[in-house]
Amino acid sequence: MTTAFIGQPISRVDGRQKVTGGATYAAEFDVRGQAHAAIVRSTVAKGRIASIDSAAAERAPGVIAVVTHRNAPRLAYRAHKAVVDPDVGERLHLLQDDRVSHQGQPIALVVADTLEQASHAATLVRVTYAAETAATEITRVEPVLPTRQQTDQGERRPPETRRGDAEGALAAAGVKVDQTYVIPRENHNPIEMHATIAAWEGNRLTLWDKTQWVHNTADEIAAVFGIPPENIRVVSPFVGGAFGSALRTWPHVTLAALGARVAARPVKVMLSRREMYYGVGYRPHTVQRVALGASRDGRLAAIVHDGYQETSTYEEFTEALINPTRFLHSCPNLYTRHRLAPMNVHTPTYMRAPGEVSGIFALESAMDELAVALSIDPIELRLRNEPQQDEFRKLPFSSRSTRECYRVAAERFGWSRRNPKPRSMHDGRWLIGWGMASATYPMNHAPASAKARLLPDGTAEVTSAASDMGPGTWTSMTQVAAEALGLPIERVKFTLGDTRLPRAPVHGGSLTMASVGSAVQAACRSAREDALARAGANDITDAMRRLGRPIEASADVKPGDAGQRFSMHAFGAVFVEVAVDPDLGETRVRRIVGAYGAGRIINPKLARSQSIGGMIGGIGMALMEHSVVDARNGRVTNANFAEYAVPVHADTPPVMDVIFVDENDPHVNPLGVKGLGEIAMVGVAPAIANAIFHATGKRIRSLPVTPDKLL
Ligand code: MOS
Repeated sequence: MTTAFIGQPISRVDGRQKVTGGATYAAEFDVRGQAHAAIVRSTVAKGRIASIDSAAAERAPGVIAVVTHRNAPRLAYRAHKAVVDPDVGERLHLLQDDRVSHQGQPIALVVADTLEQASHAATLVRVTYAAETAATEITRVEPVLPTRQQTDQGERRPPETRRGDAEGALAAAGVKVDQTYVIPRENHNPIEMHATIAAWEGNRLTLWDKTQWVHNTADEIAAVFGIPPENIRVVSPFVGGAFGSALRTWPHVTLAALGARVAARPVKVMLSRREMYYGVGYRPHTVQRVALGASRDGRLAAIVHDGYQETSTYEEFTEALINPTRFLHSCPNLYTRHRLAPMNVHTPTYMRAPGEVSGIFALESAMDELAVALSIDPIELRLRNEPQQDEFRKLPFSSRSTRECYRVAAERFGWSRRNPKPRSMHDGRWLIGWGMASATYPMNHAPASAKARLLPDGTAEVTSAASDMGPGTWTSMTQVAAEALGLPIERVKFTLGDTRLPRAPVHGGSLTMASVGSAVQAACRSAREDALARAGANDITDAMRRLGRPIEASADVKPGDAGQRFSMHAFGAVFVEVAVDPDLGETRVRRIVGAYGAGRIINPKLARSQSIGGMIGGIGMALMEHSVVDARNGRVTNANFAEYAVPVHADTPPVMDVIFVDENDPHVNPLGVKGLGEIAMVGVAPAIANAIFHATGKRIRSLPVTPDKLL
């Protein structure tokens, strides 16, 4: 009997439930007596509501209530900011006044017996606006420095940094590239749309919600309604993808609770696919200048990375756009600046590898341009600029496997057979291109709690209020628990997704295994030791039977101080083969090979699944995804799956190789993991764009690389 489960390719413990429909997602819960609500949204981007007439809607069949700013209860809106909320600014106060700050802002809520009745009545609400001129085009807004810059899940850094004299060194450099890279707004498109059911019992509230952080949903809604967080229970056992869209608590959650209060009945709200483009955040449009100067032998002399991104007029959302540039490659002279373009849009949010994935597209595209200018192999260019330490924080890396990643991925890919000349490789009439890029993402770690309960029947219950938006937290935590307990895995039941369980941090920033995993491991070890000591036994099953009553242990685990002594990041290398149709400009990704130094891998099967998911996300970013904003009114003209293209099976390459290089990093956290969800997407888009350059000789600096740009 083995109890070594960490590192084993164990299948999802909730796999059967998911494929048989037994896993219940937020909108699939039903509460007795529930009504349904539909949200009426602003059709202008800025101004005031001049008039709102809800009489016809109120008379429509089945309608229980129509809530507008004229009749809505005043909500407390106490101050509350979590790590997922922008540092600066204030969230929208829903239905509290006549102001409109963005297209699609909720301006009324219709509650009815059925969803059809609510949706129909919502169309009967008559609204007129005193519209004002809105800022909806990023190129017409003067970017400003943020009041503060929040990066890496709370680590604060100035929006402008310097070392040496970057502009001077750039001017003096023998070889330079200086270009601007643009990434349009992208929207999260998880299969499961956001939904909330709210049910009040007196001053107590239960929410069934799609969320990556149950406790924060409780804290935020408690602040909005001015009630203690302990009065709110949030239930969220399954999340059908999120990519960051369920990190914050969005307006529809408040509206569900508000509707339920007004109607005095439980209320269900579910966003349509179209509403996903207005009701939750999105990856902000970014514009980045990257200038690189180098000596003829390929040593970087100067890096300038100056980027800005869209945000709303009411909150300063910032992401880690520039951060990796400060340490990824060695360079004595560096200037970075990160600015914001406040516009009449709703606040953007984190979307998979938020910041890093966008910044690295610009930096690693520029590195490829420099390699071409120098006639140096792109891997060799990176090797010549491999830093000895983190030159921004002046700290050693806890571990950094970039060299190993370049080596193993290049070997698996067959990079040595590449003819560096653009348009030199063909497959019949298709142009073939090979490109590569580096990847990095920080090791994030936050305080977490867990509880283990050993039962006399030889089974164990382990709990933590974590989430699982897809990486396999249900499964990987069961592995960690079973190994720490020394029990067969089928006798261990791990449960997550409920505020009644011990508090866990946000399920984002790739920090769940480092944080919750460490807490689960600690709670299980402590329960096991306690049981063995009390029973005076050597065998844990024996001890549990002999004790004849449950043994419980809890653990609260906080990050140690290694973060002050080391720079801790995962690193990787991504290699891509594309085929481009020379007549139609269509790009097909044929192969992706990614190698990652991401610390210990708890479950290689789930880790591979995570990684190919990130690669596919990168294909979407590189070739397809673009939320097209109509400058006249801030409307997203393609807010649907027919016109917002995401990769489908037919778009995924037949070869997706994922290699995890051995990395034994004793510094990062007790489990030695660095996190994997986000780095898997980093580097994919620039590797594809670089491969497209190699195939076609055309450098496309504005994503997505659609056929029109190649013709
Ligand atoms: Mo991720 S963008 O931190 O859900």
